[in-house]
Amino acid sequence: MADLSVNICGVEFKNPIIPASGVFGYGREYEEFYPLSRLGGIATKGTTGTKRTGNIAPRIAETPAGMLNSVGLQNPGIDHFIAKELPNLLTKDTVILANIAGSTPEECAEVAAKLDSTDVHMIELNISCPNVKQGGAAFGTSCTMAEQVTAAVRKATSKPLVVKLSPNVTSITDIAKAVEAAGADAVSLINTLLGMRIDIKTRRPILHNNVGGLSGPAIFPVAVRMVWQVANAVNIPIIGMGGVTTGEDAIELMEAGASAVQVGMACFTDPFAPVKIIGEMNDFLDAHGISAVRDIVGTVQPW
Ligand SMILES: Cc1cc2nc3c(=O)[nH]c(=O)nc-3n(C[C@H](O)[C@H](O)[C@H](O)COP(=O)(O)O)c2cc1C
Repeated sequence: MADLSVNICGVEFKNPIIPASGVFGYGREYEEFYPLSRLGGIATKGTTGTKRTGNIAPRIAETPAGMLNSVGLQNPGIDHFIAKELPNLLTKDTVILANIAGSTPEECAEVAAKLDSTDVHMIELNISCPNVKQGGAAFGTSCTMAEQVTAAVRKATSKPLVVKLSPNVTSITDIAKAVEAAGADAVSLINTLLGMRIDIKTRRPILHNNVGGLSGPAIFPVAVRMVWQVANAVNIPIIGMGGVTTGEDAIELMEAGASAVQVGMACFTDPFAPVKIIGEMNDFLDAHGISAVRDIVGTVQPW
């Protein structure tokens, strides 16, 4: 058995696999299949200052090798999360990353401040959501907005702060450097890529929101490229994700520079995906005589 443990910002993970935010809820449905303690960590559904009902259906569309979603940030709000979901999650012997979002830097900071007085292990700030104070452009698409929201959340909490980057940008490295300078302890990437499908008979977009986020194997090479670029641009750890479905995919993202890996859409096609991936990573490491997974982080040798 290889040593699968990793340490990110002083937080010890028993293995590097974390179900991604939005595909795992608060773990309750998956717990019927396996103990959550088998996971390295869990990133919870994005939580905002108050309850949100999300976008109007249809909000899921199939695509080759992936899916589009426009769920929006449907969630019960931070007070409900802290009172009803977090206490249960904290009994599961796994690292809990509370994914947070908001329409303004102030809302994000308020949510982070409430989490600061809990025992949650890490905060993952999703900067792909629209900033209502800046005409609805996503925080994560401008260095200035990304820096402002990161700085506001940084002031509100001393918990390890992971900022989750949007891939819908010209230069992901500029955004990564901006959030590092504003106090992020780590970055996670990638969130979904903006996409669209049309029903050619009705000429209506399939999603009621017209556009949505693409996830799944289709985006894996983009994730590998962006993790590698960001790893060469910042000095903070990276949690990689985007299209991972196998242990070998997870190893590839770690060789690109990720210290841990989140698994999103794959949980929908197979609820056992995260635990299978952990087993497959171990098999790969054993077969190649690698004793500790942390030794492969960032070991890609570019031509
Ligand atoms: C249905 C759905 C809901 C999501 N909700 C969130 C969310 O609330 N917050 C967030 O940061 N990312 C959210 N994501 C993005 C995922 O966490 C992940 O970044 C993305 O899907 C890429 O990984 P994958 O290809 O493994 O799915 C969501 C993705 C899906 C498919």
